Amino acid sequence: MDAILKFIFSSEAEELYILDCLAYCMIIMALLTFVTLLFENVPYGRYATTRYGFLINVKFAWFVQELPAFFVPVFLVFFTSASRTSHLPNQLLLCMYFCHYVQRSLIYPFLIRGGKSTPFASFALAFVFCIYNGYLQTRYLSHYAEYPSGWVTHPAFILGGLLWLFGWLINVHSDHILRNLRQPGETGYKIPRGGLFEFISGANFFGEIMEWAGFALAGNSVHSLAFAIFTMVVLASRAVAHHKWYLTKFEDYPKSRKALVPFVF
Ligand SMILES: NC(=O)c1ccc[n+]([C@@H]2O[C@H](COP(=O)([O-])OP(=O)(O)OC[C@H]3O[C@@H](n4cnc5c(N)ncnc54)[C@H](OP(=O)(O)O)[C@@H]3O)[C@@H](O)[C@H]2O)c1
Repeated sequence: MDAILKFIFSSEAEELYILDCLAYCMIIMALLTFVTLLFENVPYGRYATTRYGFLINVKFAWFVQELPAFFVPVFLVFFTSASRTSHLPNQLLLCMYFCHYVQRSLIYPFLIRGGKSTPFASFALAFVFCIYNGYLQTRYLSHYAEYPSGWVTHPAFILGGLLWLFGWLINVHSDHILRNLRQPGETGYKIPRGGLFEFISGANFFGEIMEWAGFALAGNSVHSLAFAIFTMVVLASRAVAHHKWYLTKFEDYPKSRKALVPFVF
């Protein structure tokens, strides 16, 4: 892998410059996505349509599209020189990343119950994003990110780490609640109850936004910030769309429930 990276980049300074550019590009993409999502829902799940290409089995789509977010980092961390992996802040941040993507790419797809098939365009975009972001986050953390000594005891790292942990737990728990709304073989929708769903329609999205915001705070880089912003744009839009959808679909939908932020929004 080192040989491939050396073939692509003439120096480490050049690779770091490219990583910075990729992060800024992701922020620009997030802004463009924000504008697009004012007019269109992200086309998968309940909004899936053949306008965005042929439909792919949902478990296969989630497994394949998320796989690069796991395998690209495995290659970068274990099969390149990865010179910063001996440092504790880098190790902990990489653990956060891997913990999420082991669950998301190797476990989550096989637990889905009755999910709608995914249009090819959504699948392809997610696949490319997972390569892009997997490289961006883990190459930066494993080979370039330098933190001051004692960074893991800095309030920003501790708060960020706690936000990441509670966000991840909320996300996994909320996805578990959604999954269990269906008996095996069912494909319809019910009103989610329990956990943060008592307060918001997008509990799983709230958890994931909190997770990557915490990761960005602990990671203290434009690279992790870009991922947090992109996640927030996509998932906030999805939470708002789901909330409106529930209100039109279920007459008895709890009126006090908000879309994304308990008691506020
Ligand atoms: N970091 C990122 O940028 C990013 C982007 C996208 C997703 N994600 C994460 O990926 C996970 C899945 O996202 P998603 O957009 O697919 O979530 P979702 O729309 O809430 O759907 C999750 C699963 O639950 C089912 N479901 C949802 N609401 C239901 C209801 N009321 N009754 C019965 N079943 C219901 C869905 O089935 P159907 O397929 O039939 O709707 C789907 O299988 C989430 O944890 C999310 O945070 C992260």
